Amino acid sequence: MTAIILDCDPGHDDAIALMLALGSHEVELLGVTTVCGNQTLDKTTANAIRVLDHLGRDDVPVAAGAPRPLVREPHVQARVHGETGLDGPDLPPPAREPVPEHAIDWIAGTLSAQPRPVTLVPTGPLTNVALFLARYPELESKVGRIVLMGGAIGEGNTTPAAEFNIWADPEAAHRVFTSGLDVTMAGLDVTHKALMREQHVERLARAGRAGRLVADLYRFYSQHHRRKYGWDGSPVHDACAVAHVIDDSLLQTVRCGVKVDTGPEPSRGRTYVDRWGSTGWEPNCGVAVDIDSERFLELLVERIGGLG
Ligand code: BDR
Ligand code: CA
Repeated sequence: MTAIILDCDPGHDDAIALMLALGSHEVELLGVTTVCGNQTLDKTTANAIRVLDHLGRDDVPVAAGAPRPLVREPHVQARVHGETGLDGPDLPPPAREPVPEHAIDWIAGTLSAQPRPVTLVPTGPLTNVALFLARYPELESKVGRIVLMGGAIGEGNTTPAAEFNIWADPEAAHRVFTSGLDVTMAGLDVTHKALMREQHVERLARAGRAGRLVADLYRFYSQHHRRKYGWDGSPVHDACAVAHVIDDSLLQTVRCGVKVDTGPEPSRGRTYVDRWGSTGWEPNCGVAVDIDSERFLELLVERIGGLG
């Protein structure tokens, strides 16, 4: 079983990633840390707790982290995730507060107490992870690997060049990609290949409370993808990163040199992936280049459905 910390900004797909982790025996979710991204930090933190409340999981700690990116101004994604960050379902306000520590201090304490290395799964801007690496370099050896959702080899989704999580805090992403740690990137190249569709949602809606929440999330979230791309379904970006930790045969990865553009627009936040070794850049990342979409979506339905 792999011990993980989910560092997220829920966010519809973050919420589904969280449910996938909770429903999967291959991972032990030590806790959830939150970051400003899809919405403000207070909203993403409340949303993480609201999802856990819904599933009766008040045993999972939630720690709030960075209220803004390292350098750039915050830009939330209300267009995609709504004003609450989790528009669609009718979830009550959170029944508890996050733990009183900052996320990076909570991560440090948790890693120190673990006998084995922990996998960090960031599914939002990388601000918390960069701050953690800067503040606690002595704990790097406790990080088994970092499996993140972010970036793209091809086109972006926030600008033509950049994917949201990297674009939102490029300096933090640069810090993570140059950390020397074992980093895997699940970017748009794979997440856009695995669309959740009505057929999956119908099965989930019949499966129980967690599945019904996914259905309510999907109804709102899929509107964006229909409007923008004309798709009859939605990517579930963040769940791809969790799925890779659960079963590493779902994503095909290639080790490549990756650099983050921290310069000005229009290329700010782009991930340059030297897939074919054109530059001589040292490989620093396992980059996901393909996904077994059907098996991934079956995993989602089975595991989240299994939560009841
Ligand atoms: C990423 O941006 C957010 O909208 C999603 O939660 C996901 O983490 C996709 O670009
Ligand atoms: Ca996210």
